[in-house]
Amino acid sequence: MTLELLNDSSNPKSFINIADSVLVGGVNSPVRAFKSVGGKSFVVKEGKGSRIFDLEGHSYIDLVMSYGAIFLGHANPNVSKLINNQIGYGTSFGATSVPEIRLAELIASSSKSLEKIRFVNSGTEACMTAIRLARAFTGKGTILKFDGCYHGHSDSLLVSSGSGGLTYSKPTSEGLVDEITKYTISIPYNDPKILKEIVESKHSEIAAIIVEPIACNMGLVIPSDEFIKEIVSARKHNILVIFDEVITGFRFKFGLYQDILGVSADLTTMGKIIGGGFPLAAVGGRKEIMSLLSPEGPVYQAGTLSGNPVASAAGLAVLLELKNLNPYSQINAVTQLISKEFNQILNKRNLKDCQIAYYPGCITLFFTNNEIRTLNDVMTSNKEKFKSFFWAFLESGVFIPPSQFETWFITPALSDGDVNEIIKAFKKAVNLVK
Ligand SMILES: Cc1ncc(COP(=O)(O)O)c(C=O)c1O
Repeated sequence: MTLELLNDSSNPKSFINIADSVLVGGVNSPVRAFKSVGGKSFVVKEGKGSRIFDLEGHSYIDLVMSYGAIFLGHANPNVSKLINNQIGYGTSFGATSVPEIRLAELIASSSKSLEKIRFVNSGTEACMTAIRLARAFTGKGTILKFDGCYHGHSDSLLVSSGSGGLTYSKPTSEGLVDEITKYTISIPYNDPKILKEIVESKHSEIAAIIVEPIACNMGLVIPSDEFIKEIVSARKHNILVIFDEVITGFRFKFGLYQDILGVSADLTTMGKIIGGGFPLAAVGGRKEIMSLLSPEGPVYQAGTLSGNPVASAAGLAVLLELKNLNPYSQINAVTQLISKEFNQILNKRNLKDCQIAYYPGCITLFFTNNEIRTLNDVMTSNKEKFKSFFWAFLESGVFIPPSQFETWFITPALSDGDVNEIIKAFKKAVNLVK
């Protein structure tokens, strides 16, 4: 009976109606609703490798990949094996278990900036904990962030943020009190001059700068070297540098993006890939800061399910696969190929107000010819064109995030056939853009 409840797909439309009646907006996270592209989402039945299948039997090549939480593709057999094995041993304990120790050990070994780690359940919690630690360590209150960066939905960080809020034109949420948001300063991404001015005038108040070292939550926006340098140089003022690597961690190499940049953040937040598709995230960093956390220190943070053994086993399985397969150069090659083909299609059609932003494993299509450096540039992208592109691409069998302000993710599970299909679908979709 219980299995039937989960496997019944006899009347796909009824599930959408039930979802609408019992879940707010029919979803559990806003961007999933397809509202910003003016339509209705499908209900997922299953995922396998590079594809997802809806209840109505449609198959889509998946470039959403759970907003970056699934890296190796859906239901990877080696990952599923370790998860199933752990489930047999029990799913949650009120004491430390082997999978969380093994996962912490592997993550810590990947970067010298991760001297100590604390697991939490979401990227939101990781960023919330990181700023609490920064405030305790520096004795200062203000957090400096950048417009269009998203660091989860805690009150302090929902100011001028990216992702879902931006998708629904509300980058700063209602329901926040001024007494809290007055401790958050948000300034343009990629503007070292403004950053320098703010740091010089307000350093006695600023506890930390938190940044997405590649911004993925206003579409894909690559930072300049000068911008990153200016962030790091704020340290001389006793300002901590927090790299939010919830998306970038383990995406471009086995370890952190900051190691590619040659920078060691004071604190780093991670999530998505390290949880292997389960609710697991982490904050890590310098020992003297991390040791302020309870029970070693006075900064309180806790979680009934933190370091959950099944989630940790899933994360461990994914990271072991990544270490073993080292798929990073393959992902780079596929991203380059897809982007080159997309650009050729755009050039042939003489579509000058379209551009592809890409970095290995990440792509965004913008409908503007402004150089994309800040949120203001992103905002010039034509939302109506994005909408019509989204539906045409979906109808041609490719699922991308239903928002201009998200990044598409390339999985190593894409076959050559999938890549050809994506290129064909892109050609068809751009021809239908109105
Ligand atoms: C860079 C970044 N930080 C933090 C978060 C919040 O993570 P979560 O959705 O797990 O709370 C996200 C989520 O997309 C993210 O992209």
